[in-house]
Amino acid sequence: MRLKAAGAILIVSSMLWVEKTHAQAPEKLSVRVDKTSPKIQPTMWGVFFEDINFAADGGIYAEMVKNRSFEFADPTMGWDDKQLDGSDASLLIVNRGNGSNARYASISLKNGKGSYVLINEGFRGMGFEKGHQYNFSILAHTVEGNVKVKVEAVDEKGKPIGHASLEEIKGDWETYRVSLTPTESASNGKLNVIFEGQGKLEIDMVSLFPADTWKHRPNGMRADLVQKLADLKPGFMRFPGGCIVEGRDLANRYQWKSTVGDVADRKLIINRWNMEMKDHQTPDYFQSFGLGFYEYFQLCEDIGASPLPILNCGMACQYNSAEVVSLNQIDPFIQDALDLIEFANGGADTKWGKLRAAMGHPAPFNLKMIGVGNEQWGEQYVDRFRLFSKAIWAKYPEIKLVGSAGPYPGGDLFDYLSKVMRDEKASLIDEHYYMRPEWFLKNVTRYDNYNRNSSKVFAGEYAAHIDDKTQKDTHPESHNTWYSALSEAAFMTGLERNADVVQMASYAPLLARVDAWQWRPDLIWFDNLHSVATPNYYVQQMFSKYKGTNIASVLLNGKAVTGQDSLYSSAVFDSYKKQLIIKVVNASTTPRNIELNVEGSKGKNGNAEWIQLASSDKLLFNSIDNPYRIHPETRTIGWNYKKQEIKLESLSVNVLIVSYTEL
Ligand code: AHR
Repeated sequence: MRLKAAGAILIVSSMLWVEKTHAQAPEKLSVRVDKTSPKIQPTMWGVFFEDINFAADGGIYAEMVKNRSFEFADPTMGWDDKQLDGSDASLLIVNRGNGSNARYASISLKNGKGSYVLINEGFRGMGFEKGHQYNFSILAHTVEGNVKVKVEAVDEKGKPIGHASLEEIKGDWETYRVSLTPTESASNGKLNVIFEGQGKLEIDMVSLFPADTWKHRPNGMRADLVQKLADLKPGFMRFPGGCIVEGRDLANRYQWKSTVGDVADRKLIINRWNMEMKDHQTPDYFQSFGLGFYEYFQLCEDIGASPLPILNCGMACQYNSAEVVSLNQIDPFIQDALDLIEFANGGADTKWGKLRAAMGHPAPFNLKMIGVGNEQWGEQYVDRFRLFSKAIWAKYPEIKLVGSAGPYPGGDLFDYLSKVMRDEKASLIDEHYYMRPEWFLKNVTRYDNYNRNSSKVFAGEYAAHIDDKTQKDTHPESHNTWYSALSEAAFMTGLERNADVVQMASYAPLLARVDAWQWRPDLIWFDNLHSVATPNYYVQQMFSKYKGTNIASVLLNGKAVTGQDSLYSSAVFDSYKKQLIIKVVNASTTPRNIELNVEGSKGKNGNAEWIQLASSDKLLFNSIDNPYRIHPETRTIGWNYKKQEIKLESLSVNVLIVSYTEL
């Protein structure tokens, strides 16, 4: 029986859920709460932000102008121009030859007639919402004459839907600002920057942001996307990658120092996903670093996530150039790591702490962990990890270091690093698995017998990937199938009951533009104006929101739960909220009767909250045009600690929350 209304809370007698006529005896799930049971780290479930699929520029970073400072490899990429009503104008891209923002545009209006229009196409168009304010800014100065500047938001047909005029532009470089409010919405609009008069004007940093950014911060983040991250209640955020940390070669690696300070001075580089995927090339994918390390730390703070920056360890992507810096030249890389700790945690009297304070955050960001390298492997990685850990722990022994276990969940590369990272005393070892749903179902016991007395595990990147042939490819979101999410949920019960050894976990990747992606599946899809949570997102949320503080044990028909009969379960208790939380996944295509019993409980019978995510269609997915096909439904049922009968839907993920006052 399914509930009809989204998010409806129904009070139903628990007996209603018992299928009395069901032929099979109920499966017995016994939950035992033990006061000395292992703790779950507050960081347990987190998010992995990688600048892939236009997650940063064109994504969460709300800048609407593409190539705002003419620094793309093709300096006019994203821009078009036209002359109207007899205008005689020219555009020149000038290179200062130095500095991080070397280029600017010089516009000459020769005859004082008509208008010259520079048109920015945005990131696959611009999304305008009727009645909302958009803030335009431009760095400009007049070289000669008198050139007036107007701006116009236009819809997909080029019809103006909002406009504004700038004040007179003077002789010195200065930032000019004006706001416009469209009278109509457009999902694929553009921005016209209109020049009129006679003379010469030089411009740079042409920018348009919605005023309604997250927390209304100027030049900030897209509010709808940050809200979705906040709603996951992530314990940590790993950033900024992923392979972009490594770069295709070392010159293209992510260097945090060029991502802080004034945005106009952050040196743009190509995004390594730009032309990486043969069938998903995006030549206009660059990194402006408007979302830089300061903003990442601030985002972590906003959403309550502990920051986990991943730093290049002197190695470029081993799938690409596999370039390494020689060991006797690695000091600047290590210094970057030490300086980052100072940037995040140092007092305003330190060099890097002072910069953080000047950027608006005098208080420390409370950085506690760093990843040394991304998905590296081999002896060359171990050599470099060793140098990093020695230097970092000499100065900051309290910082946890995350080491890599390579790109696969098993095999020679994995076995080697899994052992050596333990020898090196990595605080956490980052394991990655992009595998089929069946792998996730089978591997629920992966951590049951892991070594408890050495490095902990960080399941840093995982997602169930379906075989391309199993799904009709109608939407980019179509690979986020219900079955992929269900299999992840089953696997996550194995992570949860082993939370003493698997201390952190994050799905990957996090964000993807429907019209400019390179990698799928992803947790959240978006276009210019909308975003959609996948079934996988809801699974993450069901674990993360109800992570508890301690592990409780669960037996299925008196035995450890290993996925027998396609049932998976884990339980936790929350000693602050005084709740017992039981998760049960039914991965079979038949409904199941369960008899639940909480052993040794003195908890009072009463009500329980039951959150259910279910569909009988394994291939169902959420899309921007149909975002709520699968979403959690919540009901309240009567609850009996000694014997609670429930009927699980086929293919369902269930979270039961009961008050537990005994603790
Ligand atoms: O998440 C996509 C990529 O998968 C990451 O960049 C990399 O770490 C892994 O190979």
